[in-house]
Amino acid sequence: MDYILSPSLLAADFGDLKSAFEALKKADTKWLHLDVMDGVFVPNLSMGITVISSIRKSTDLFFDVHLMITDPIRYVKDFANAGADLINFHLEACEDPLAVIDEIRKTGKKVGITIKPKTPVEELAPYLGLVDMILIMSVEPGFGGQSFIPTSTEKVRTLRAMLTERGLETDIEIDGGIGLGNIREVLDAGCNIIVIGSAVFKGDIAESAAEFNRILETY
Ligand code: DX5
Ligand code: ZN
Repeated sequence: MDYILSPSLLAADFGDLKSAFEALKKADTKWLHLDVMDGVFVPNLSMGITVISSIRKSTDLFFDVHLMITDPIRYVKDFANAGADLINFHLEACEDPLAVIDEIRKTGKKVGITIKPKTPVEELAPYLGLVDMILIMSVEPGFGGQSFIPTSTEKVRTLRAMLTERGLETDIEIDGGIGLGNIREVLDAGCNIIVIGSAVFKGDIAESAAEFNRILETY
């Protein structure tokens, strides 16, 4: 299993993305987490198709696109064309998750499914084996810089056990409130893709990313 840092661009200075990408590269980062918000599914707005397609030209990082939008099936093709490598949608945001999974598969991109902190992991059972990655939100989606919700660790542990029981090695991603103080706890619980926003971008980006990458490489 690969252990990967996926820095959340939401915490970056959008006026100087070039330096941010250079710093991430310098730290040998491979992924970039892109938070898309529609002001309906979550009470905030962020970037959309145009921004993703334009930053696609400035970096070859793997684009891990986290859709926090209602009825995501409407925009799957657009995000695929914009340069997403993985398209991650919320279980709570759609009526027919299987149709969304199929729609993403048709684009040839990797498929991710996400649950909010209050959604039980058991609700993911019908989709295990159909997706490449499962994201457990460890804060209420919508904003960076929030505190980690401690019950998330147990959700990860339960999900990893459900996957192992089925003989699956699906990636588990965690997103929200992760830093040096709790990264090992979520790794031990069974996560292998770690989203970090503030703790990467609010200081020296290259140094912080390198420190997290070292932890993940040697885990
Ligand atoms: C919140 C987003 C997160 C957020 C993480 O809705 O999905 O990706 O940017 O940021 P931190 O690491 O600051 O909690
Ligand atoms: Zn996110």
